Amino acid sequence: MGQTLGDIAAALIALSGIAVIIGVIFIRRGDRVWHPRIMLTATALAALFLVFYLLKWGLYGTTRYVGPEEWRGAYYALLISHTLLAAINGPLVIWLIYNAVKGRFNIHKPWARWTVPIWLYVAATGWVIDLVLRRYGESTGSIRF
Ligand code: HEM
Repeated sequence: MGQTLGDIAAALIALSGIAVIIGVIFIRRGDRVWHPRIMLTATALAALFLVFYLLKWGLYGTTRYVGPEEWRGAYYALLISHTLLAAINGPLVIWLIYNAVKGRFNIHKPWARWTVPIWLYVAATGWVIDLVLRRYGESTGSIRF
């Protein structure tokens, strides 16, 4: 069950990344109707990811990496960069939406150029981390690192 929740969370974060790419394509084509719709969908998917992730965390604790030693450093580099950027992404997205709703696109645009790559990195690495843990993960059964 813990793995299922993790897989759902990974699918949601990956889908949110795909939605961001589609939202960028829409605004590049000048579509100011579908761009916000898709970006708000991407935001909802990311929020839902957080719900499933926290549910898994609360119910089943963390998953420890028990894979090959030579990959441990790379795995933790990925995990730490993913977690830090995910935490930064949240406030950035709220800031983007806030400015867009206020019609301040001169602020929205430059911040969006930073936020989109961060969001995509978080989505891609979240999916990779899930794949790694599916193969090399061991549930700790409690909340610890
Ligand atoms: C929440 C996530 C969002 C992200 C990641 C995002 C991302 C972007 C990106 C990458 C651009 C193009 C910047 C460029 O030209 O290089 C852009 C432009 C734009 N966005 Fe968003 N956006 C988001 C939400 C919204 C929302 C909610 C609205 C409307 C309420 C909106 C309205 C616009 C408009 C109108 C532009 C074009 C501005 C212009 O060309 O002057 N965006 N956005």
